Amino acid sequence: MSKKRVFSGIQPTGQIHLGNYLGAVKNWVDSQDDYENIFCVVNSHAITTTQNPQELREKTFELAGMLLACGIDVKKSNLFIQSEIDEHPALSWILDCNISMGEMNRMTQFKDKSLKNSKNVNVGLFNYPALMAADILLYQTDGVPVGEDQKQHLELARNVAIKFNRDFGECFKIPEPMIPKVGARVMGLDDPDTKMSKSAKGANHAIFLLDTPEEILRKIKKAATDSQTAIVFDENRAGLYNLLSIYQIFTHQSKDEIEKDFEGKGYGEFKIALADVVIEALRPIRQEYVRLNAEKGYIAKILAEGADKVRPIARETYQKAKELIGLI
Ligand code: AMP
Ligand code: TRP
Repeated sequence: MSKKRVFSGIQPTGQIHLGNYLGAVKNWVDSQDDYENIFCVVNSHAITTTQNPQELREKTFELAGMLLACGIDVKKSNLFIQSEIDEHPALSWILDCNISMGEMNRMTQFKDKSLKNSKNVNVGLFNYPALMAADILLYQTDGVPVGEDQKQHLELARNVAIKFNRDFGECFKIPEPMIPKVGARVMGLDDPDTKMSKSAKGANHAIFLLDTPEEILRKIKKAATDSQTAIVFDENRAGLYNLLSIYQIFTHQSKDEIEKDFEGKGYGEFKIALADVVIEALRPIRQEYVRLNAEKGYIAKILAEGADKVRPIARETYQKAKELIGLI
């Protein structure tokens, strides 16, 4: 039986953090053997917010290097840059014409992002979910491994695919969201009521995959908690719950085991144990990133091969959509 296909994307808009890693990338890496995998650095999405062109080019390559350092294995997965395949914006236009203003208007990420980027609220930012739907639908994707924040965008992708298939004929596979049970929404260390994000300003907000052990320890020690003492999983204690969830993913222990291990111990001891676990998990990634980054030609070759491999799938779907809607 052939393997199901997964597709996912990540924007080259800043350093990747523990939220990106635990919500998305680690799951891509861990399930590479189970699926046929397509992963994409979505640089066209990145220009919905203001980017310096030279920096964008650099960050696109750096992110590709980081994904390889995290364990994306090109023998098992295709990795490519979104803007290398013209069918993404082309299909996005056809989808645009099949998404109502009302549905697009409901997207909460647009509201958040337009508040954060109030000087540049452009049409592309509004339309962002149509391009994301095109990314997914072009590849006849079965599953989309993402963090919780992408759930609404995925619902839109499913809806437009269902509508198109119904109105014009069978064209797209309907993709299923793949959202992890733990780690789907990693919260900011300095403010556990907001999700960890690349753009937040606080020096202790996010742990980046390239942070040094000293930075990781400092950020975890400073992480906001509460005035209670017991180290237990309690969703009402958002700061501690977030830290415990991170600990749980890296140690693969059950909640009971973790609570037992920290019985009678305080925040200080737990935070040091957590910092150790995070430092050791990220160390090989950082080392591999440094090694790979010295081989820009190798990364470029991988990306070119990745695009060449997946392009025929995108072309076929796009041609079909064009024909069905009467453009050829
Ligand atoms: P982005 O950085 O917005 O391109 O996100 C890349 C992937 O990381 C997407 O699958 C997001 O859902 C996921 N992600 C981003 N922030 C978080 C977070 N704080 N917790 C869990 N997943 C996240
Ligand atoms: N919108 C996603 C994010 O901000 C990134 C993305 C773009 C994506 N296209 C995608 C994720 C296709 C999954 C599938 O995180």
